[in-house]
Amino acid sequence: MATARLNITVLAGDGIGPEVIEQALRMLRAVADVHGYDFRFRSALLGGVAIKQAGAPLPPQTLEACLAADAVLLGAVGGPEFDSLPSDGRPEAGLLGLRRALGGYANLRPATCYEALVDCSPLRPEAVRGADILVVRELVGGIYFGEPRGFTADRSEAFNTMRYSAPEIERIARVAFRQAQARRRKLTSVDKANVLETSQLWREVVTRVGREFPDVALEHMLVDSCAMRLVTNPSQFDVILAENLFGDILSDEAAVISGSLGMLASASIGGRVGLFEPVHGSAPDIAGRGIANPLGAILTAALLLRFAAGLEQEARAIESAVRRVLEQGHRTADLGRTIHPSAPKPGAPGTPAPGAKPATTAEMGALVEQALVGVIERRPAHQAV
Ligand code: IPM
Ligand code: MN
Repeated sequence: MATARLNITVLAGDGIGPEVIEQALRMLRAVADVHGYDFRFRSALLGGVAIKQAGAPLPPQTLEACLAADAVLLGAVGGPEFDSLPSDGRPEAGLLGLRRALGGYANLRPATCYEALVDCSPLRPEAVRGADILVVRELVGGIYFGEPRGFTADRSEAFNTMRYSAPEIERIARVAFRQAQARRRKLTSVDKANVLETSQLWREVVTRVGREFPDVALEHMLVDSCAMRLVTNPSQFDVILAENLFGDILSDEAAVISGSLGMLASASIGGRVGLFEPVHGSAPDIAGRGIANPLGAILTAALLLRFAAGLEQEARAIESAVRRVLEQGHRTADLGRTIHPSAPKPGAPGTPAPGAKPATTAEMGALVEQALVGVIERRPAHQAV
């Protein structure tokens, strides 16, 4: 059901997080303004900034503010200054603790090849053109959370545990099959069943759940093979279902079809409160310079409207606005063109495509906002409640 009242807890986090989240908020405010919706925003600390200002990567007040919200919008966490901390005190531990507490086990990571960005991919245009993949990553189980984990007393050994139960696999498989039903009805379930027991169980359970979805074509693929096919023939994929670690790796890899990791959005659903975060990290190397690509965060705002509020039209309006701005040739620095060996005039990677209009983070946000208002005015959404 669509809702026009939303309490959103905003965790800008570290690195480029605050810069890109500012642009995402712009879209949410614009949608609220145009339709008269009541969106309320409340900021809280997570990650490195929380370690510095509140002494812990996930302070109790932050967790409370997230659990009380209708949705959580997150930028990114982490930075080199925290690298020497023990793993349970690092910014990433705050993020993982939050994911687990909110419970959104289904992490949806769409990767689309935008026609306007076909030349930004390091892959050949004919390989990426039209590719459109949804990675469904299990987010709150597997080796990220399995016990026992740790170091031996003398630190000469370390160990982690990959563990899955059938119910955990069933619920994520159902989400993936339903997503496939709404798309091109193809599901590739990824595992390492030739080696791992967890993967053998994964394959069995996914096959069983698949019988409930006879309209979806299910295939199983080994993760190494999937990694190779993603970069040789990405168009063969529709929905990719993977456990936590495989999904982490494959979703970054899938970003090559959209030209930049900065383009990818994600939604973590199925738990108490939805968590929405761009896939790119905190990118400390470019933080504070105003050059980060805000489109991943902006597209994340679209996913928030779709999954936390049922505002499908408004989500699509943001997605169309992004497409439009890219078609007009506006590009942040990461969307410089990669020159392919086969291109007639070789040049350095990152060379802007002819006709590209360089844009800063804030300029890109302003352009998308402008386009968004245009899209909404041309195609009014359903009546405000
Ligand atoms: C991601 C990130 C996180 C993960 C890190 C920051 C803990 O890489 O969201 O993909 O591994 O899940
Ligand atoms: Mn990752």
